[in-house]
Amino acid sequence: MVKHGGSLGEGLGTLAADLARLMAAGLKTVLVHGGGPELSSWSGRLGIRPRWRDGLRVTDEATLELAEMVLAGRVNRRLTTALGAAGLPAVGVAGVDGGLLELAPSAPEEGLGYVARVRGVQPALLETLLAGGFLPVVAPVGRVGGQTYNINADQVAAALAAALGATLVLLTDVPGVTAGGTWRTRLAPEEARALLASGEASGGMRPKLEACLEALARGAARVVIVDGRAPHALLRALGGGLEGVGTELAPAGAAQPVRGGWMEREGTEG
Ligand SMILES: Nc1ncnc2c1ncn2[C@@H]1O[C@H](COP(=O)(O)OP(=O)(O)OP(=O)(O)O)[C@@H](O)[C@H]1O
Ligand SMILES: [Mg+2]
Repeated sequence: MVKHGGSLGEGLGTLAADLARLMAAGLKTVLVHGGGPELSSWSGRLGIRPRWRDGLRVTDEATLELAEMVLAGRVNRRLTTALGAAGLPAVGVAGVDGGLLELAPSAPEEGLGYVARVRGVQPALLETLLAGGFLPVVAPVGRVGGQTYNINADQVAAALAAALGATLVLLTDVPGVTAGGTWRTRLAPEEARALLASGEASGGMRPKLEACLEALARGAARVVIVDGRAPHALLRALGGGLEGVGTELAPAGAAQPVRGGWMEREGTEG
């Protein structure tokens, strides 16, 4: 399960090549995407000032309409187009499709508006696409009954990874997580909770760490936050060594990932 951060902007870098490598090796892959900065830019154009609470976007009716247009529309189409152009069998879907996500709306007192959290997953749609050899590309928009909701994409990716027992790789615009002023290659769950409590994890890192903790507790195989700007970030997340590029969230004492795994077995073109 790979999440492409909206923070990474439009370029795919080496992502398509990495995904192609994984698929050629027979690994089933799902891509979830965010789109925060692009959504904010469209809000700005329409004179809506974006607002966040605890790293989650406050979503009024106009922002919800925009979220559908930008996330399930433009960002999803752009990704599937770019991946398709790179020869990958990408298929765009949203959380509203095939009953993929069961949501719980945020509580009114949270003041988040049309923001929901993922309560359950029905992976049949993804399993069907994967069995057909497709690469699903999931937009973080879901529904409860006939009402659509905006969902933090990290939560979507985490819930899907947990449900499928998959490895979760979150590609973002920083080299993982900083704790005590240093970039960490490994972080234990209790350290992540301490970063949340102290506020050292702020902004979008808050829902990201919460989603990672949830994914780990609920059955994801591994959880890695990695700098999507770095060459072959995805392959490195899967076993090429995280120094300078990312953070694995894992209980202290858990086995270290195999160094060099993907890069050594499969070779790399740099
Ligand atoms: N302790 C921390 N360690 C690392 N990054 C942090 C920390 N605290 C806050 N951040 C911020 O979290 C940001 C990443 O979250 P953000 O939600 O902005 O990106 P994204 O999830 O990749 O994009 P999108 O939400 O659009 O999908 C980083 O750019 C960084 O500024
Ligand atoms: Mg984010």
